[in-house]
Amino acid sequence: MAIFEEGILEKRRRRAAEAFGNQTPTVLIGAGEPISIPGGLDQTYPFTAHPEYYWLTGSQRSGGVLAYYHGDWTHFVRPVTPTERLWEGNPDAPEGEDIAGLPEWLERNSSTEIAVLGSPIQGVEGDEEFAVEMRVRLDTVRRRKDSAEVELLGRAVKATAAGHAKAREVIQPGISERRIQIELEAEMFRQGADSVGYGTIVGVGSHAAVLHFEPGERMVNPDDLVLIDAGGAISGYTADVTRTYPAEDRFTPRQQAIYDLVLAAESEGISKCCIGIEWHDVHRAAASVLAGGLQDLGILKGEVDGLLDSGAIALFFPHGIGHMTGLGVRDVGGHAPGRDEVRSCCGVRVRINFPLEEGFLMTVEPGIYFVPAILDDPEKRERFRDSVDWESLDAWRSVGGVRIEDNVLIAESGPRVITAEIPK
Ligand code: GLY
Ligand code: MN
Ligand code: MN
Repeated sequence: MAIFEEGILEKRRRRAAEAFGNQTPTVLIGAGEPISIPGGLDQTYPFTAHPEYYWLTGSQRSGGVLAYYHGDWTHFVRPVTPTERLWEGNPDAPEGEDIAGLPEWLERNSSTEIAVLGSPIQGVEGDEEFAVEMRVRLDTVRRRKDSAEVELLGRAVKATAAGHAKAREVIQPGISERRIQIELEAEMFRQGADSVGYGTIVGVGSHAAVLHFEPGERMVNPDDLVLIDAGGAISGYTADVTRTYPAEDRFTPRQQAIYDLVLAAESEGISKCCIGIEWHDVHRAAASVLAGGLQDLGILKGEVDGLLDSGAIALFFPHGIGHMTGLGVRDVGGHAPGRDEVRSCCGVRVRINFPLEEGFLMTVEPGIYFVPAILDDPEKRERFRDSVDWESLDAWRSVGGVRIEDNVLIAESGPRVITAEIPK
């Protein structure tokens, strides 16, 4: 069954064509080829079509190419082979022209410049600069989520909410990170997820301070907190949600203080997610709450603006406030035409450099972490000698880390938190 209705795909192609421009020479968008597992003989990694191709075709089949020339689209697909039917059954293959016809089509329809978007296409050499220009235009179109995407995301959020509820139910002293992951993922799958959107993170105690921690055998102790960052995906669309839970009914007073602060920063960041705001201003708004709070707790010293400008806040909040999400956990992103790819802000590199528009789906995910690799770095201790009360800091380290992450759809009426049903 087609994932997107024909009408949706037509609309997307129309918008992409408008962005490319009618006089644009040839644009090819490749699905990609499966990647062999090193030493695995005929085995390959699970295949995911390039999101640019998938978004415009609704197909996850490898080897396809969507071709654009002067306002017309032609979809080339890899025909199903008898061997494929033998080993894989009936694959979900889209209708289209045989990919073998691409070279001839190119002879008829190519001009001097070819932009290859999506994944590389065997035997086709594109013009790099032209591809960059066309990708920026396609990105601009893809950033706004359409109704089909919002519907899929709504279902992905339901599965994710069920997974987090299950995790919350099973967390108790004595359970391992891995076991929490298993219970959480099983529930997401039971509630409709067809995959996880990214490697599930479950970090207990100090592991909560490892930003992308892979769950292991560590058991929850009574005074640990547990950080869970997990999202269920449906047809490639994923939620990206983090919650931090106590091991038992309540946090310790120090954990609670850090949790309340991160929650306040998240709330501030979300409230800023309105049409027209620059993403780095959302980052700064959340970072400002964190800096003020850490100062109140006696961990940071000095003026809030100074703590942001010097990057002292990044000792505890060492990543960006969020990213685009939806089709894959990192969706589109990038920068507005003519702008730098990254922008430094509050001591970190913020990789999104554009103002928000209606229909964008952003994560907002502030955190405070006590990372030994940062806090024990002699160079940082010297540089931020006067910005941190290094002695009182020690008592806080066992908190590990707290992150809270929601997914926010930018709307005319203001920020719409599509993951609000997951308690925090
Ligand atoms: N789930 C990974 C991240 O939020 O970056
Ligand atoms: Mn996440
Ligand atoms: Mn995220």
